[in-house]
Amino acid sequence: MPAPLHVVILAAGQGTRMRSRLPKVLHAIAGRSMLGHVLDAARALNAAGCHVVHGHGAEAVRRAFAADKDVTWVLQAEQKGTGHAVAQALPGIPATANVLILYGDVPLARAETLWPLLQGKSLALLAAMPTDPKGYGRIVRKAGRVAGIVEDKDANPAQRKIREVNTGILFAPARLLKRWVPKIGNKNAKGEYYLTDIVAMAVKDKVKVSAHVVADFAEVQGVNDPGQLASAERAFQLRRAMHLMTEGLQIRDPARFDLRGSVTFGRDCVLDVGVVLEGIVELGDGVNIGPYSVLRNVTVGAGTRIESHCVLDGATIGSDCRIGPFARLRPEASLADEVHIGNFVEVKKSHIGKRSKANHLAYLGDATVGENVNVGAGTITCNYDGANKHATVIEDDVFVGSNTQLVAPVIVRKGATIGAGSTITKDVPPGALAVCRAKEQKHYPNWKRPQKP
Ligand code: UD1
Ligand code: CA
Repeated sequence: MPAPLHVVILAAGQGTRMRSRLPKVLHAIAGRSMLGHVLDAARALNAAGCHVVHGHGAEAVRRAFAADKDVTWVLQAEQKGTGHAVAQALPGIPATANVLILYGDVPLARAETLWPLLQGKSLALLAAMPTDPKGYGRIVRKAGRVAGIVEDKDANPAQRKIREVNTGILFAPARLLKRWVPKIGNKNAKGEYYLTDIVAMAVKDKVKVSAHVVADFAEVQGVNDPGQLASAERAFQLRRAMHLMTEGLQIRDPARFDLRGSVTFGRDCVLDVGVVLEGIVELGDGVNIGPYSVLRNVTVGAGTRIESHCVLDGATIGSDCRIGPFARLRPEASLADEVHIGNFVEVKKSHIGKRSKANHLAYLGDATVGENVNVGAGTITCNYDGANKHATVIEDDVFVGSNTQLVAPVIVRKGATIGAGSTITKDVPPGALAVCRAKEQKHYPNWKRPQKP
């Protein structure tokens, strides 16, 4: 039986440099909190336990993960250093376990990268070779072997020149941590209990220490301020875009693509620049999305084209539809196949039947629209009386003239025609023409417009 893996995530720090009310580990990358990303990595490694050491903003952090029943919350009321943080978690970890230490503010480390650390039986560090090692603990070697870690603030000028740094991520059997961590002292530049002191203890105990150098430094970069949050976001987005492209998604510019959730797609889907996908997005074959459109929790049928600058939220869209540019679909908008929704058209909680069109400047709310309906420019369903919402029904083959107000509740029966500029307050019978506008058009000959004095 291999030893169970317990992951300890250090997340108690304040994150002063974020200058934010939100606890640092709750800041999001790709729409998911940094701590969420780290938990995902722990789960991908099949951790038997996830112990989150938290302190600053403790309540908010716990609340954000209230649904995650696999998390053991370890409170570190006062932040006395990484060694002290791990000491709080150790009592909850069986001596037979292996332990991986991760950081709540190092959100991009992938399970694949962490996996090699877990293969050893002694102490393993994740190291890196950044171009600028400033601020990091340096890995001190003697005759090629790891001899210890010296923190930046405690390092002498020669040690400061070492480029091999400690990412903070490490692996060790719980048995050894339980032996070493209680012995950590705080006689150093910061007066903190440094977890990194266990490296020298391991060397003294003749326990093998290995350091695995991570290939891509971006993966282990910490997030301490909004600038680093943004660079982590871009690195993560680029990594995902590259992966989606290997699966066949055509992203015109992976540097101008944002996914804050998940996307599934068929063949030959093309996303132009600046597309933002949020929540759960499903695209059928051959879906084309124009520049700067935002899709949140949307399903799009095959062959549908979404032009630029659309905002689509909670909508279900059929096949071969044409949407936008500048269209807005709100929750519970459902479009059948071959529907056209044009510029400055808003659809909310409405079903639009097959081949129906609303091409310009319209509001359809709480409406049921049949097949082959033409909704003219400027048409509005007056669905709200100030207190309640009412339904509009437009049956098949109706022609709604421009600038029509449909005062709900109202039904326009099959094949009816509504003259432009009508305010419809009564149900329209099938096949009829309904016109309701000022009867007479008056002419005042030789009309003099007012003049400026
Ligand atoms: C730490 C390492 C350093 C490494 C660097 C990588 C130590 C002593 N040093 O330094 O070798 O190069 O990370 O980024 O470990 N935390 C707690 N409780 C505490 C203190 C910290 O939970 O009492 C958490 C913080 O929230 C943070 C992480 O531990 O997520 C790292 O702490 P931080 O103080 O930032 O360590 P560094 O000085 O960056
Ligand atoms: Ca740090």
